[in-house]
This record gives sequence, C-alpha cells and structure tokens, in this order.
Amino acid sequence: MTRRPYIVGNWKMHGTRAMLSEARAIDRAAQRHMKVEVALAPPFTLIHPIHREAEQISVGAQDCHHAEGGAHTGDISAAMVADAGAKFVILGHSERREAHGESDSLVRAKAGAALAAGLRIIMCCGESAKTRDSGRAVAFVKKQLKGSLPSAEEVNGDIAERITVAYEPIWAIGTGTAATVEDIAQMHAEIRGLLVELYGEEQGGAVRILYGGSVKPDNAAEIFAVPDVGGALVGGASLTADSFMGIALAAG
Ligand code: G3H
Repeated sequence: MTRRPYIVGNWKMHGTRAMLSEARAIDRAAQRHMKVEVALAPPFTLIHPIHREAEQISVGAQDCHHAEGGAHTGDISAAMVADAGAKFVILGHSERREAHGESDSLVRAKAGAALAAGLRIIMCCGESAKTRDSGRAVAFVKKQLKGSLPSAEEVNGDIAERITVAYEPIWAIGTGTAATVEDIAQMHAEIRGLLVELYGEEQGGAVRILYGGSVKPDNAAEIFAVPDVGGALVGGASLTADSFMGIALAAG
C-alpha cells in the first residue's frame, strides 16, 4: 500500500503561544491539501494548545523519556505527551544524540516506551560530515538504525503505520545546503533494504522514509521525486505557514 507523503515540521526550541497563529494557518492550508499528511512537532508547551484547535494536522513531540514515570526532574514521559494530544514522537534526532549523549540503546528504549503509550515514532538517523568523508556513511546509518529501531514483535501492530524513518545527514541540517538527490537516493535505497530485512517485504516496504536537512520550497520537488522518499522532516522552513505549506504542496 502506498501511503500519503508525510510532511512533518520540527519546530525544535522555537515557539511560544504567539506561534499558534502560524499553526492555525498550517492547519487551514492542510485541509485544502488532503493528499499530503501534514504534522507538527512543536515544543512540549505547545502540544496541547495546537492539538485542541487542529482539525487536520496531527501534533507530536520532539522527544520523550524511556521510563513510565519517577524521579526524573525536567523529563516527560510518552504517556504524558500522548495525554497532551501528541500522536507521534520524534526520536533519535542528531541534536539529541549529540547534545544529550543519547545512545542507540537509549533511543530504542524510548521507542518501546512510545509504542507502549500508543504513539507513532519518527526514528531519525544520519551521519556526520566526517563519517561521510571517510566513506562509511551507509554502514554508520544502518548500524544506527539497527540499534535504535524496535523489533517487529515490539511494534506488535501495523509497522508501516507506527514507524517512520527520517534520514537527516547532520551536515545538511540548518546549513541551507541539502544532500544531493544522488546521495539521498543511495541512502534511502539502503535504508529500504534494511527495513525489509527487519520487518519483511510488505511492512518494511511500506514504511515511509523521510528526508531531512535544509528542505525548502524551492528544492522540495526534486527531493520528493527521488525513489523511496516518502516525505520530509523540516526544521527552519516549518516555522512559517507559507514556506512549510510550500514544501507540502510540492509533495502532492
Ligand atoms: O528535524 C529537522 C531537521 O533537523 C532539519 O532541519 O530543515 O532546519 O535543516 P532544517
């Protein structure tokens, strides 16, 4: 089954309630472009306000803790973000792996907690410039995903519905320079092969693989034309309705 293109905005640590008007504009525009699945991952503080008003877009979190609860000052559990209205969680983003020292096994534990709370997962992966220059990008990304993704048994349901993978080369994030279509095509084909290996032909073949890293309205169409690109995880260009929906329009 071919799924709709999935366009997800990761607001990172941007956005106070003043940004709710932008989320409203995104939601209104998404209602006119139903061929594309549009979602926003705002900071935790905006999950509930956006969820309460949204009619079309889904809202997600940018992280969650791996434990159900307890003495974890400043952390938030998967059940808490689900209770606030989140339908999915982004896990393993390079900014968390780098700034918070998140290992593959921790990310995998978070995935288990998120699934148990009924959330869908967007599992991020991606290599640094140094790893790419050394020619080890494919091996690195496959190892990262193998260590971070839950097993088919752990998903215990419709894998292609519950899991999305986002390939985000670190060197392309926030730099204004996206990966080339050749590099994206090669990596997405490798990731597809791994997903089929892990989840079987039917489910592994249907999991959407997003590209992330300097996606903008003017490069989105060529990226979406690459085989095995099922959408985009968008940072900077998701902060205004005009640029974010410009990208969504290019997808369908
Ligand atoms: O999660 C989103 C990515 O880190 C991409 O960010 O679109 O600002 O390059 P960017």
